Amino acid sequence: MPNNDPDAKPRILTGDTPTGRLHLGHWVGSLENRVALQDRYDCYFLIANMHAFTTRADKPAEIRESVIDIVKDWISCGMDPERSTFVLQTEVPAIAELTWFFAMLLPFNRVMRNPTLKTELETKGLGDNYSFGFPMYTVGQCADILAFRPELVPVGEDQVAHIEPCREVARRFNQLYCGIDPHTEDADYPGAGAVFPIPHAKIGRVGRLVGTDGVNKMSKSLNNAIFLSDTPKQIKKKMGQLFTGRQTMDEPGDIHNALFDYVRIFIRDPERVAELERRYAAGDNIGDGHVKAEVAEAIDELIAPMRERRAEYEKPGGDDLAIDILKAGTRRANEVAEETLAMAKDAMQMDFGKRGELLPA
Ligand code: TRP
Repeated sequence: MPNNDPDAKPRILTGDTPTGRLHLGHWVGSLENRVALQDRYDCYFLIANMHAFTTRADKPAEIRESVIDIVKDWISCGMDPERSTFVLQTEVPAIAELTWFFAMLLPFNRVMRNPTLKTELETKGLGDNYSFGFPMYTVGQCADILAFRPELVPVGEDQVAHIEPCREVARRFNQLYCGIDPHTEDADYPGAGAVFPIPHAKIGRVGRLVGTDGVNKMSKSLNNAIFLSDTPKQIKKKMGQLFTGRQTMDEPGDIHNALFDYVRIFIRDPERVAELERRYAAGDNIGDGHVKAEVAEAIDELIAPMRERRAEYEKPGGDDLAIDILKAGTRRANEVAEETLAMAKDAMQMDFGKRGELLPA
């Protein structure tokens, strides 16, 4: 499937690591963008199960379960396997091979300076005993992306630090092996004969969603998440527990607390948001409880259609259905990734026979 067809849609690649079910932070950070971009782009959505092993090598059963949960989360939130391609990382061998090539193009110190990697080392308490594979995943992420030669990578804010090295690797590869002049503008690489376009990140509507503790970024491990698979009752309860935080307000539009972050993010009628802000600031017989209930309702409105789409996959046989979708997508993904690998190997003068020629059938 060469991408030189002028009518071909530009590609997107993005993905999730299967370390738990997806929550509202994922939705506003990236999923919402993915759903919206599906018609205009040829989308590849990747489940990075290898990456899950970098910190959870002792939990294969949990990772397996989470892979299936993520397929269900994706479908339920409106990512459509008919229009987009769902990909399982470990069944795309070209990604693993490209990871090796790219590891040679990134200085070790550059990898270790990645702020997202540093934060993870701290928040996950990995200390000095993290595996070699842990920092390696950042190189692997370059391969996840570049295997599909995408234009755009829709991600949450925390992932931008991973996209930058990917862009550096792409430039370096193209300069070293495709004879591209280092002064070439990013946008001009494809026209100049590069194997890899220089992709860019696209950040979601909300870079960082605060969790129901009112302080930290929403995260499964911090127990402050509202999941896309939560029941109306769970949503109501979690919203009720939202820590509102200290209020500093000069103007109604100036209410700075977690609750009003939620109001502005999840209540989609701007007039209603303004009214709530005005009444809340004026102390106009409207308390946290009332506002929380209204936000819970808005969140439930968002999640109700997801719940409906999910129902089919919660029945017996639902897991197999999800796995079949993933297999069909991965097959399509391998067509693109194999083509990329062949292009990369040719450029690197590894032209010693076609893929498959030297492998057992
Ligand atoms: N590291 C990403 C996360 O934890 C998941 C991921 C893996 C990814 N490979 C990717 C995201 C490639 C974008 C592109 O959220």
